[in-house]
Amino acid sequence: MKERTVWVTGASSGLGLHTAMALRDAGWRVIAGARSFPEAGSGDAGPRELDGAELLRLDVTDGDSVRAFRDAALALSPRVDAVVQCAGMLVLGSCEETTPEEFERVMNTNFLGMVRVNREALPLMRQAGGGRIVMFSSINGLMGIPFQDAYTASKHAIEGYAEGLQMEVRPFGIRVTLIEPGDHRSGSDRYRLHAAAMGADSPYAGEYGKTVRTIHRDETHGSDPDRLGRRVARLLDRKHPPFRRRIASAEQHLAVLLHGALPPGWNERILRSYYLKGKA
Ligand SMILES: NC(=O)c1ccc[n+]([C@@H]2O[C@H](COP(=O)([O-])OP(=O)(O)OC[C@H]3O[C@@H](n4cnc5c(N)ncnc54)[C@H](OP(=O)(O)O)[C@@H]3O)[C@@H](O)[C@H]2O)c1
Repeated sequence: MKERTVWVTGASSGLGLHTAMALRDAGWRVIAGARSFPEAGSGDAGPRELDGAELLRLDVTDGDSVRAFRDAALALSPRVDAVVQCAGMLVLGSCEETTPEEFERVMNTNFLGMVRVNREALPLMRQAGGGRIVMFSSINGLMGIPFQDAYTASKHAIEGYAEGLQMEVRPFGIRVTLIEPGDHRSGSDRYRLHAAAMGADSPYAGEYGKTVRTIHRDETHGSDPDRLGRRVARLLDRKHPPFRRRIASAEQHLAVLLHGALPPGWNERILRSYYLKGKA
């Protein structure tokens, strides 16, 4: 079988790192992108976990960086069989106090970053007669929770965009998959920022503090990132990959089901009381 090449964005940390490792272990040629990877030729080593993968500098918020990544990736391997997009970050804060610039930063990384990378990969896949696009959404692409509004908006944007994308590219043999993770361990606090206004003076400070503690606790006790990586690698081997794959705990699957089935007011009460449990 011919060697297959996959580009993985956001591969320096968290689920992107674990997915890149799983794809390498499954025999893919992995070209991994992140801002913190060493400049080509600098002699600096990247993360040891990614030995055997090719590491390239990539900032998905910068069109020139994305095009330079594409060119460098094609110089390493002239084909791109799959793209797995994991780059992401969040700014926590109330809707009232999160600034448009803070929203823009999250949208620019999480959503427009995927748009930029897809625009480079799609022509290559079309010309090659097919390919796979995998985009990391979240449970928050399906339902909102308090104080994670910019992130939730960005993940909802990905969900809507992916539906149209799949309808457009299917005739070219390209298949799109949304990965919707629930809480997983290994995400880094470096990418969980707080809106500048969320200090002790905020009128939301009490509920905000409790919610952030719940979010943090759920991630710390979250599911195994290696297992998720292996599931994504297996999905890429399937002849008919699913459009959506939720990878979450039983409670989070249930929360999504209830969100679709219950009246909005009930959901609001359940989710508010859940997130306000966070102890000081
Ligand atoms: N962990 C979870 O529980 C969870 C749950 C649901 C969804 N997700 C999704 O899974 C993905 C990974 O999240 P994570 O929490 O596991 O990992 P993470 O530790 O938050 O890592 C984020 C990754 O994104 C990269 N990144 C951020 N801004 C970037 C930019 N402008 N250009 C290129 N890369 C950029 C970072 O690398 P550099 O700083 O080196 O660029 C890093 O590799 C995200 O899309 C996230 O929304 C995670």
